[in-house]
Amino acid sequence: MKNLSYDLEDKVVVITGGSRGIGFEIAGLLLGQGARVVICGRKQQGLDDAVKALGGGDNLLAVSAHIAKEDDVDRLFTQTMDRFGTIDVLVNNVGMNIVAGVVDVDFSLWKKIIDSNLNGTFLCSRKAGRIMRERKKGKIVSITSIAATRAAPFMGIYGIAKAGIQMLTRVLAQELASFNIQVNAIAPCMVRTTFSQPFWSNPEIHDQIVKTIPLGRIAEPADVAHPTLFLCSSGADFITGQTLMVDGGASAV
Ligand SMILES: NC(=O)c1ccc[n+]([C@@H]2O[C@H](COP(=O)([O-])OP(=O)(O)OC[C@H]3O[C@@H](n4cnc5c(N)ncnc54)[C@H](OP(=O)(O)O)[C@@H]3O)[C@@H](O)[C@H]2O)c1
Repeated sequence: MKNLSYDLEDKVVVITGGSRGIGFEIAGLLLGQGARVVICGRKQQGLDDAVKALGGGDNLLAVSAHIAKEDDVDRLFTQTMDRFGTIDVLVNNVGMNIVAGVVDVDFSLWKKIIDSNLNGTFLCSRKAGRIMRERKKGKIVSITSIAATRAAPFMGIYGIAKAGIQMLTRVLAQELASFNIQVNAIAPCMVRTTFSQPFWSNPEIHDQIVKTIPLGRIAEPADVAHPTLFLCSSGADFITGQTLMVDGGASAV
């Protein structure tokens, strides 16, 4: 799978939250394609470790930024423009979840989940959209979740935020189509990363989830990264406003 080829050489791709997990996998594949890659995260140590693991080099820039903070997002894009002079693709990959019920949740926690998923994706997409509109070219891909279309008790706020990102995807696709900018989303089922480790590392929960997935396993980061690269590439020039399910067939049941 690692040898698949996409026409992404020299393309400048900003990945939010690329210091580990799915974003890190996407960054590694993109660097292998000769793309120029920007990753971000809140923790400097995570970024330093990721840069080392990705082999560093002139094609990689790591920026410490919280995507729900407007000043941080401005700095992320300013540093990208200063270093690479343009931006071809934005991958909205950051997401976080805290298990909480809607009726009992504190407003501050509700806002934190909506901020890190939906508001951060809005801030980054708005910034990238303005730059891409000038260039009359670009692609935005957001990682959502199967939770956007399946109401699950105590996981619902995350699902509500991800559903918002899917609608944001469709709206942006409409608003930016005449500027030759394609906007799409990828909705995975459970992926083996730190994010969902409390679930997949528990054999009972793991087996329950696998029973809902026709292909009989949870996803690996590469299962999500490859379709993301496709949607970033010119092979996807005529696809916009879509959410691609990467869920081993779970949503087709
Ligand atoms: N893993 C799954 O089962 C699964 C399933 C469906 C969808 N997804 C979605 O896939 C995406 C990636 O998830 P993952 O599993 O790779 O997560 P992960 O392993 O927790 O990695 C998250 C990355 O985002 C960064 N990050 C988190 N909050 C941030 C913020 N506010 N600002 C900037 N960076 C931030 C983290 O670095 P710092 O901690 O240093 O900030 C890290 O680099 C998310 O949108 C998630 O909702 C995951």
